[in-house]
Amino acid sequence: MKNILITGGAGFIGSRLCERLFEKDYNITVLDNLSPQIHENDESTLYRKIKGKCKFINGDVRSKKDWQKALKGQEIVVHFASETGTGQSMYELEKYNDVNIKGTSNMLEVLSTSNHSIKKIILSSSRSVYGEGKYKSKNQLIQYPKSRKINDLEKGIFNLLCEYTNEEMMAVPTDEESLINPKSIYALTKYAQEKMILLISQSLTINPVILRYQNVFGPGQSLSNPYTGILSIFSTRILNGNNLDIYEDGLESRDFVYIDDVIDATILAIENERANGEIFNVGSGIPTTIKEVAESLKKLYNSDVNINVSGKFRLGDIRHNYADLSKVESFLGYKPKYDFQEGITKFVKWVKNQEIKEDKYEKSIQELKDKGLMK
Ligand SMILES: NC(=O)c1ccc[n+]([C@@H]2O[C@H](COP(=O)([O-])OP(=O)(O)OC[C@H]3O[C@@H](n4cnc5c(N)ncnc54)[C@H](O)[C@@H]3O)[C@@H](O)[C@H]2O)c1
Repeated sequence: MKNILITGGAGFIGSRLCERLFEKDYNITVLDNLSPQIHENDESTLYRKIKGKCKFINGDVRSKKDWQKALKGQEIVVHFASETGTGQSMYELEKYNDVNIKGTSNMLEVLSTSNHSIKKIILSSSRSVYGEGKYKSKNQLIQYPKSRKINDLEKGIFNLLCEYTNEEMMAVPTDEESLINPKSIYALTKYAQEKMILLISQSLTINPVILRYQNVFGPGQSLSNPYTGILSIFSTRILNGNNLDIYEDGLESRDFVYIDDVIDATILAIENERANGEIFNVGSGIPTTIKEVAESLKKLYNSDVNINVSGKFRLGDIRHNYADLSKVESFLGYKPKYDFQEGITKFVKWVKNQEIKEDKYEKSIQELKDKGLMK
């Protein structure tokens, strides 16, 4: 199977997949509307990366006509096109529902009403569907905490507390069977995408594969989008000489996974039959604190900006989450190759060769404050 459609193929992850599949002689079609939040203009660096390596359709997943055109003759779909800002999703609900949910339902409806040739659909879902993820209490009880209380956060109690004893709990690797508990509209739309694809693909005799990516980083991540991608946001701030404001106590953590590892996992899902019908976590399996990210970047840019740990918090943010990779390793043989320091060094090297973008972060934070989402 070599005819592949990548929606959102001009984006950060999609463009890298396009480059890698081009080297492997796939016939690639990209459907992407070159969203200005990511691309700024039609000849963005990301778009230039894939130009000539694919048939490019400048179209929108919200249009069934564009889907009809894009799906013709394809065997595999990798569905990346999505709105991706967690905070932004909490006030731009219509856009997130339209692009992520309606966009996906359009694809499935077009497939249901035509003689399609698709054998496999791969969805880029997100670890955000788990919300806080899996925890262990001091007495070794596994818990899936629902939410942190605003009262606690205001008092500076950021860690998750045991439901029964009120003692602090420890985050443990989250596996695919963990409780689903979306904490943002973005997360909810990603889960809706998963469910829709899993439900409808059976009647369409298509093999679905759901990949729940952790926080992906690396060269190509938009430096102008202030709504998502902490490494890019911090980099743009540092290069504009602006201080870094870190929320909570800076010890909140994420599983940062390097772009090439994510692409390896995605290609395994495309090419390996054992992926069919399954849901997989894709990450590094290792938590890194936000403070560590800020300090590493400051050092790598040789910068003297201040890092302020502010104690502020955003509603809907989770405390920690990192992936249990046992399933993806045993089914597909995926093992991340890059550790965080190696990845961040490569990322910074790339950023240093890019034009410095305007820092729009303060504006995006003001939007959250205006909507009561930032405390
Ligand atoms: N980057 C991450 O850390 C991460 C983590 C988990 C999941 N994901 C998922 O991976 C996928 C790709 O993420 P990314 O980081 O490459 O995002 P990105 O924003 O860089 O790329 C998304 C692409 O989709 C295009 N797009 C947006 N709306 C569209 C529409 N209506 N019609 C057609 N194209 C549209 C954009 O122009 C862009 O090129 C998304 O589905 C995202 O939810 C990403």
